Amino acid sequence: MKGLVLSGGRGTRLRPLTHTIAKQLVPVANRPIIHYVLEQLAHAGLEEVGIVISPETGTAVRAALEDGSQWGLRLTFIVQAEPLGLAHAVKTARPFLGDDPFTMYLGDNLLGMRLTEVLARFRTEGSDALVLLKRVPNPQQFGVAVLDEAGVLQRLVEKPAEFISDLALVGIYVFGPAIHGAIDRIRPSWRGELEITDALEELLRAGGKVTSSILEGWWLDTGKKDDILEANTVVLDELTTRDIRGSVDAASRVVGRVRLEEGATVERSTIRGPAVVGRGTQVSDAFIGPHTSIGDGCRIERTTVQHAVILPGAVIVGIERLEDSLIGKRALVVADGQAPRALRLLVGDDAEVRT
Ligand code: TTP
Repeated sequence: MKGLVLSGGRGTRLRPLTHTIAKQLVPVANRPIIHYVLEQLAHAGLEEVGIVISPETGTAVRAALEDGSQWGLRLTFIVQAEPLGLAHAVKTARPFLGDDPFTMYLGDNLLGMRLTEVLARFRTEGSDALVLLKRVPNPQQFGVAVLDEAGVLQRLVEKPAEFISDLALVGIYVFGPAIHGAIDRIRPSWRGELEITDALEELLRAGGKVTSSILEGWWLDTGKKDDILEANTVVLDELTTRDIRGSVDAASRVVGRVRLEEGATVERSTIRGPAVVGRGTQVSDAFIGPHTSIGDGCRIERTTVQHAVILPGAVIVGIERLEDSLIGKRALVVADGQAPRALRLLVGDDAEVRT
């Protein structure tokens, strides 16, 4: 079993941040999202993983993953010249995949469960594809699956206007080699992309067996700002343990599950976990509330911040309340005069915001 992680795409819904950073490299609890993906594939016993990258962000993705040895993986980088769809990414990766079965994982998705059982099921069921499904309250926004009693897939419907099923397709799939023939037979959709849902439909039409597994744990697709914040909240809740390596002065309080990295300094401030504060970050006269991740080398001064993701090198000064925000690398957010009470921002790298 090989792995295929899709780390190309345009990331338009996360602009302006994605003008300068690949969406899969946006940090959640101070680690790039794609690191969690690789950790999970390694945990499921995979050894060889292809990473689909774009010409624009490929170099940064390579740099963030190196050779994969930190997860015990062998990585092959595959350039997709244009983001022409998930099935097009599989087509581009065909020389790497050969006729081996593979797990395809969207590089901006996070999953609150292990894949070991799903892969074991795929092997014993002898199916051509296995899709992961999740019950959602708003099926009209997803591709949904209609199953028979045995859980075998009958039909896929993209964004159904009328209720037909509430089982949404999650961005993780397991495929056997028959998917390649199906991809070769489909045409681009109205949006000009080779859709993986069309390939699955084609596989069904040709008599292929597509099984499914319904996910009980959480699943997050981090395409937009609020999804990143939610992912950050969930990961901080689940993974953070108290670990104080930086320095905290006598006038400060660090409460609960907080990871304060080496060289971070906290003066006359309160940090309430779960939260992480990166290396060398200076926090003074500030309140850092729950579900906040602050990267390395930031400066947070006379500011209250909560439920936010702040990338390395950002400087935030004098903001009475900054919340539900995603702040890019080295960005400057400063209250020059009377700042509005609460700010909710999505700020790109190196941007300057004065209120
Ligand atoms: P999407 O989130 O569907 O697309 P996108 O990254 O272009 O984002 P947006 O809609 O905001 O413009 O893609 C899902 C994942 O698959 C994501 O990690 C990017 C990746 N991808 C590819 O690698 N190649 C592709 O051709 C496409 C469409 C996506």
